Amino acid sequence: MKTKLLKGTNEDLDTAASIIRAGGLVAFPTETVYGLGADALNAEAVEKIYIAKGRPNDNPTIVTIAEQEDVYSLCPRVTEDMKKLMDAFWPGPMTMIVPAADIIPPVTTAGLPTAGMRMPDSDLTRELIRRSRPLAGPSANLSGKPSPTTAQHVMDDMDGRIDAVLDGGPCRVGIESTIIDMSSEEPMILRPGMITRAQFEEVLGRRVLLDSTLNVRPDPARGDFKPKAPGQKYKHYAPNAPMILFQGEHDRVMAAIEEEKKKHEQAGEKVCVIAFSENQSELAAHEIYARLREADKENVDIILATALPEQGEGFSVMNRMLKSAGFNIKEV
Ligand code: TXA
Ligand code: MG
Repeated sequence: MKTKLLKGTNEDLDTAASIIRAGGLVAFPTETVYGLGADALNAEAVEKIYIAKGRPNDNPTIVTIAEQEDVYSLCPRVTEDMKKLMDAFWPGPMTMIVPAADIIPPVTTAGLPTAGMRMPDSDLTRELIRRSRPLAGPSANLSGKPSPTTAQHVMDDMDGRIDAVLDGGPCRVGIESTIIDMSSEEPMILRPGMITRAQFEEVLGRRVLLDSTLNVRPDPARGDFKPKAPGQKYKHYAPNAPMILFQGEHDRVMAAIEEEKKKHEQAGEKVCVIAFSENQSELAAHEIYARLREADKENVDIILATALPEQGEGFSVMNRMLKSAGFNIKEV
């Protein structure tokens, strides 16, 4: 199939909407990363997402909506706390796990009784949804690869595999939305993102839990590494080359990276260095996936990167980098 590259004209939006209504696939921009959209209520259409991405089918896709009101037809029980979060953070980088209405097919929820709701901060995408349907919308990368933050990244992975890409320019945030589970007694963050636990606690006026497996370095001797969001258990955000994270005091880290770099270059290898200072978590979020994709394009042999302090937004970026590196960390 020939993948159309669409800009945001009125005509383009109509084209994209008719593809969705006909059960096709359109990649769409959001403030976090690009999503791969299909009619969330059309099981056959959603199947195509799994095929295009090469995604395991026990991993549910989130449902991308245009308006707060859309939640009421997709979730049978909307609580006061859910409303507080919608008011505070939508449109924006929050996915809320809620009880799923029966009209959402099992392929979208991977058979779970819950579904993730997300209202992105992109006028283009919200207009596409208004003209078509709520979109099942995982990130628009091949399964396991870094998420796409430009339309070109989407094309690099998906050209020929999907019907169209709607180009909304580079993504502002750069890492995926915070996932907060509101379907059980206590709210719990299942995937960290730019909206932090402290922000949720302030809005809700109550304690918010953090999935205790997040950012925990797996201990091969212990077989109990079971994250609560199914997608978090797969190999993720991974570049082609091996990646090492250097953790410690910044100057020592930079010196260690320099030394390691020399060693590899002397052996005739191509080295990519990804360095951020300790107060650059937001910049790191914005750039990390693009840098990893660049390393792939340049066919580097090894990636050497600085770890970030694991607080606030840094915790969220490290959540991705730890996986990109396969938890390959050097303490210096
Ligand atoms: O920022 C984002 O959230 C992007 C943009 C495109 O909206 N989307 C995104 O989708 O990151 P995806 O499918 O790559 O990641 C969604 C995560 C997966 O780890 C999935 O397992 C989890 O959400 N998830 C979806 N539904 C769930 C549910 N009912 N319960 C627990 N986890 C769920
Ligand atoms: Mg993803």
